[in-house]
Amino acid sequence: MIARRMALVLVRTIAEARAAVRRAKREGKRVGFVPTMGYLHEGHLRLVDLCRERADYCAVSVFVNPTQFGPGEDYERYPRDLERDRRLLEARGVDLLFAPSVEEMYPEPPLIRFQIEKLADHLCGPRRPGHFPGVLLVVTKLFHILEPDVAVFGQKDLQQLVIVKRLVRDLNFPVEIVAGPTVREPDGLAMSSRNEYLSPEEREKATVLYRALQRAKALVEGGERSAAAVLAAMRDVIERVEGVRLDYVEAVELETLQPVERLEGRVALAVAAFVGPARLIDNLVLDVRDGQVREVPAID
Ligand code: PAF
Repeated sequence: MIARRMALVLVRTIAEARAAVRRAKREGKRVGFVPTMGYLHEGHLRLVDLCRERADYCAVSVFVNPTQFGPGEDYERYPRDLERDRRLLEARGVDLLFAPSVEEMYPEPPLIRFQIEKLADHLCGPRRPGHFPGVLLVVTKLFHILEPDVAVFGQKDLQQLVIVKRLVRDLNFPVEIVAGPTVREPDGLAMSSRNEYLSPEEREKATVLYRALQRAKALVEGGERSAAAVLAAMRDVIERVEGVRLDYVEAVELETLQPVERLEGRVALAVAAFVGPARLIDNLVLDVRDGQVREVPAID
């Protein structure tokens, strides 16, 4: 007999989402979860593929979370198209799409907030105060609602991934966090819903983030171990492109996200830059030991 896949179920309330997941669990299924803010691209869909490889039942959330946006950021204009997302997820074999309203997730202003030590001191942390506490708030709520056994996060948002892994460790969430490699356009630009903001000319310029990371990688592969030298080379690549405003380039140790002077062990090179109306981020994780340099597309 050929097993027939069930169609995707779209739910808008916490009660419906809980009931659907609990039904799957009662059937003995391992539940996987991919949290997203929607306007899905191939990068998200690869996370879905990973989720389906590791679980019997795959839930995806689409929710543009207001608590992780600061004043003046792009909460209002963040692209949204739930019907398109629904079609893409159904084609990829997703079982449950949870797309709550803001009122459903935040019926009253939350009074409990996360405070993050050390892991948000660098990279995007100081530039987007309140962002990671807002991410942890919504991720915690989504984990409580969907009770996944495994959850998949993209490595493009490396700082978020490292902080969520630590959340799960510190607060004993019974969920395995799996990293999904960054998915790139043919010219290297990391896929992001925010690429939607770019004009064709800006889209072309945006590849400079990838080129700066490739320059850094070539230097490290060539034996350079001084973080200052590699970061200066990255800055140089980026500052040559008119219309691109560098926010930061940093080299950090992977587990602590603290700056390093020497590129040894597991390190991340990370960049953020404004290209036209979009603030874009990208990174590269390297494992440098015994004279060998290995790129780590998905951290464990
Ligand atoms: O990475 C994202 O899209 C968001 O930060 C997340 C994890 C869905 C929380 O809103």
